[in-house]
Amino acid sequence: MKSITITRTLIFAALAGLVGVTGADAAGGKAKKVEHHHWHFAGPFGTYDNDALQRGFQVYETVCSSCHGVELVYFRNLGQTGGPFHLDRCPTGVADTVDCANPNENPVVKAIAANYKFQVTDGPDDSGDMYQRAALPADRIPSPYPNEQFARLANNNALPPDLSLITKARHHGPDYVYSLLTGYGETPETIEIAPGQYYNPYFHGDLSQSLKAQYVDEEGHPIDGVDVPLGGVLAMAPPLADGIIEYTDGSPQTVEQYAADVTEFLMWAAEPKMEARKALGLMSIIYLLILAGILYWSYRKVWSDQH
Ligand code: HEC
Repeated sequence: MKSITITRTLIFAALAGLVGVTGADAAGGKAKKVEHHHWHFAGPFGTYDNDALQRGFQVYETVCSSCHGVELVYFRNLGQTGGPFHLDRCPTGVADTVDCANPNENPVVKAIAANYKFQVTDGPDDSGDMYQRAALPADRIPSPYPNEQFARLANNNALPPDLSLITKARHHGPDYVYSLLTGYGETPETIEIAPGQYYNPYFHGDLSQSLKAQYVDEEGHPIDGVDVPLGGVLAMAPPLADGIIEYTDGSPQTVEQYAADVTEFLMWAAEPKMEARKALGLMSIIYLLILAGILYWSYRKVWSDQH
């Protein structure tokens, strides 16, 4: 009897879950399907492309960091194994006593921290005051705003989310971030949007209330032949444009390339140990295959004289 009750509860819970999900989808309106980009890090053997990570950090620092933090990332992470600026050995001209493989001593990471566009708030000092100082590898990458209120004030009351985990926090994370950054286009002629808002077909929203008066009937429904455009509006102006960041490695200076690079960097920020995880998975599978072989061989051996 008890098990029947439990089963029933589970079925109800599952149904409620289903209804809940479809309800939320309907309320959110429809966004354009994300574009599938070919990522270096995709698939079971995928790894990060170090050059792309370095360029991606450059894009983040030059553009995105004015509004978004990556507060889970420390400068020293940039120099750890698998990080964009990891060094196996020191570049020429660096003293022998320096261990460049150590992220805290890595000269590239030290320079990035020291010259970063924001300083770190430290303190209190002997007189009880907080003060600003240049960052060190052991510091978190400083965020642009001291608090949420300030961030909203500077962004038309919208909050630029921290980007440390954004590629994990959205459906089809990397493809979504790439599509969002490259997907801004003309605002459809049928809708009216408030100043400080920008149309993006990949952003979830519901534009049925934004149709201009001449495209809706008395009840507010779209008139024949007019569709509610896919997507939504957000408070982020298109952050990228061709040529705004200078690459030194000859890569194309286009919105698509910037978007792909910064997405790869943000993917690394969210999962810096991905390569180690995949390598471990591969080793485990090889181990299991060998074990299966040995087991099969011993099975044949043990039973070989039984008829
Ligand atoms: C001038 C400020 C500004 C800059 C520069 C900027 N953003 Fe944003 N971004 C915002 C704001 C504000 C929001 C929140 C928008 C909203 O919710 O209406 C946002 C939202 C986002 C989102 C979340 C979208 C979602 O699904 O909720 C992502 C991802 C994002 N930005 C990525 C970036 C990247 C990558 C860059 C650098 C190439 C960048 N942004 C540059 C202000 C900025």
